[in-house]
Amino acid sequence: MQWRRRYCCAHTVKLLYFLSLLGVLVFLVHQVWMPHLTGMPWSRAYPVVNRGGRPNTKAKLNMSSQHSMWRSDIVPQLTFKTDANIFHEKEGISFHQGDLHFENTLATKASQNEDVDLSYTITPGPYPYIINEPNKCVSNRTAPFLVLLISTEARKVEARNAIRETWGNESVALALGFIRLFMLGKNEGELGLSQQRMLEAESQRHHDIIQQDFMDSYKNLTIKTLMGMNWVAIHCPRASYVMKTDSDMFVNTEYLIYKLLRPEQNPKKNYFTGNNMKGFAPNRNKNSKWYMPPELYPNDKYPTFCSGTGYVFSGDLAKKIYQASLNIRYLHLEDVYVGICLAKLQIEPTPPPNEFLFNHWRVSYSSCKYSHLITSHGFHPNELLKYWHHLQSNKHNACINTFKEKMSRSHSNKMNGKKYSQ
Ligand SMILES: *[C@@H]1O[C@H](CO)[C@@H](O)[C@H](O)[C@H]1NC(C)=O
Ligand SMILES: *[C@@H]1O[C@H](CO)[C@@H](O)[C@H](O)[C@H]1NC(C)=O
Ligand SMILES: *[C@@H]1O[C@H](CO)[C@@H](O)[C@H](O)[C@H]1NC(C)=O
Ligand SMILES: *[C@@H]1O[C@H](CO)[C@@H](O)[C@H](O)[C@H]1NC(C)=O
Repeated sequence: MQWRRRYCCAHTVKLLYFLSLLGVLVFLVHQVWMPHLTGMPWSRAYPVVNRGGRPNTKAKLNMSSQHSMWRSDIVPQLTFKTDANIFHEKEGISFHQGDLHFENTLATKASQNEDVDLSYTITPGPYPYIINEPNKCVSNRTAPFLVLLISTEARKVEARNAIRETWGNESVALALGFIRLFMLGKNEGELGLSQQRMLEAESQRHHDIIQQDFMDSYKNLTIKTLMGMNWVAIHCPRASYVMKTDSDMFVNTEYLIYKLLRPEQNPKKNYFTGNNMKGFAPNRNKNSKWYMPPELYPNDKYPTFCSGTGYVFSGDLAKKIYQASLNIRYLHLEDVYVGICLAKLQIEPTPPPNEFLFNHWRVSYSSCKYSHLITSHGFHPNELLKYWHHLQSNKHNACINTFKEKMSRSHSNKMNGKKYSQ
């Protein structure tokens, strides 16, 4: 009896010890190899997709084995795969004729099996430009390689200035043609008027602002993005690539241009990439910022879309997306809406070469990590300046230094005793 009990206890202790070791191991793997997850866990970072108020717990607990539960953290795309049967993932087709019922919205002009009529002349749309830069692109004989469209608001002057000095500095790729444009709507009232005067002065100085006559609000973000597409379609139709992003982002434009888009290659067509959201369901929680009323979007899945914090596409798509939008009912979730336009064009976003490039959460800073990513989210202008300059001065040995620092730190920790006793 005695022996048995002791044996049993020893056994349990061993088991617990083993389990905690395993836990530590899993944690370490998570921290070291999945650096982007140390910022904000994916599951909490994209609430667009949650049905209820409890982010993703259902989906997680629903997974059959512990293994897949762990994986669901790391490979977010897999979370909803089990029931995403309306998507033909293998064939790379995510839009299924008849799957999306927009009642009268997916109407007449462009039938799904035909290309959008590209001879159609694009007009500025329902909201006229208040501030425009019609010659920004055509002033140079060669079309630019990359146009940056940055969503911002009038009051975020500091953020715009930080971007001008850092990742949006046109001298990042001057010879290739690199254009930066901030996109704004307008504000009402006294404050709106004074902001407008300042904005116009800022525009005179930097010539990098476009603004249309719509109210600048969260629910109008889709209008803002469509303004950018409209601008490229009208004023810069031969740009090789376009990136849409926000003014609180860190964007490694150098990596984007030279490592992902590669100017030495022929520009792609019908290309769209970013943080791919595949098989996601509309948020039906009325208190959520990402709430999607069933009357507006009745389907239980969105087509694949890319997080609005940063997506990149070939210049030809600006016109196609804008034109497709003319027949698609307005939705305030800008990234979802662009995804629906793409689905209508039967274009599936390309997954990025690795899943750590486009982060819609904040990745904790190290020169090594930041020299190998394209987007990271949630920056104060001062942080942007600090990290950008650090990255620039460590560009050529971004990772060697990290490695050395780590080594010397652990080395000096070990050696400390010896040194001081000599
Ligand atoms: C997952 O959750 C859904 C919704 O609550 C439920 O209907 C389904 O049976 C669950 N699946 C598994 C495998 O538990
Ligand atoms: C952009 O970069 C160039 C070259 O590094 C620098 O001379 C210039 O001052 C920068 N522009 C701004 C607005 O900081
Ligand atoms: C046109 O492109 C050249 C490089 O090819 C650049 O030096 C110049 O500043 C550009 N001009 C304008 C007006 O953007
Ligand atoms: C969007 O802008 C339009 C045009 O200015 C305005 O009428 C509408 O109220 C705005 N919508 C929201 C939700 O702000």
